[in-house]
Amino acid sequence: MNENELKEIAALKSKEYVPLEGFVGIGTGSTVKYLIKLLAEDYRKYSNVTFVPTSAESMDLLNAGGLKTSTNFAGQIRIDIDGADEIDPQGNLIKGGGSALTREKIVAVNSERLIVIADESKLVKKLGRFKIPVEILEFLSEQTVKNLEKLGCNASYRSGEKSRSDNGNIVVDLDFGLLDNIIEKEIELKMIPGVVEAGLFVGITWKSIIGTQNGAKEKTYK
Ligand code: 5RP
Repeated sequence: MNENELKEIAALKSKEYVPLEGFVGIGTGSTVKYLIKLLAEDYRKYSNVTFVPTSAESMDLLNAGGLKTSTNFAGQIRIDIDGADEIDPQGNLIKGGGSALTREKIVAVNSERLIVIADESKLVKKLGRFKIPVEILEFLSEQTVKNLEKLGCNASYRSGEKSRSDNGNIVVDLDFGLLDNIIEKEIELKMIPGVVEAGLFVGITWKSIIGTQNGAKEKTYK
């Protein structure tokens, strides 16, 4: 099976965790797109669910599939299902390859449970081969990037449509190499003025569902 088929397997399994009422977070990316497609095929079943999308792209796909969305509500998000760029053995993540990291983190931390769906290529022993996406304000952005580099990384700007988030901010990718202290790294990055969010998701994941050549493999972390 190819990578896309493995993503689809993970998405199909995760659909079993979508409740039939309440608020449900929906992430961004190619794996999540498979889930949205599967949900749209059954849209009547989810008429009492309000989906909370982490990007304009996911919102448009949900709405086009007949599924209700909101990003401004009072209530508890029961479950959030999202993709990842890297997943370590403890379920810590690098996210933001699609520039949606800030909204993804807000939805994830405000959900009772985060389920990460991915193909098996996303599993790593240590995070850091995938550069850490960081969303920064345009205001004095060159100075912010210099301050980020003082932490010991190489920063690169993106080109094309992923160079900005849906919030209108710049997304840069930081190469620190493989990471040893991810909690400290997340704090260090977020302490720099101008940084809106960093694509390190530490200790948030409840469960991963990985599409493998032997089917969907689930792992629960907390
Ligand atoms: C978007 C993300 C995505 O979840 C991540 O990039 C994985 O995407 P894909 O499912 O296409 O591999 O963090 O900001």
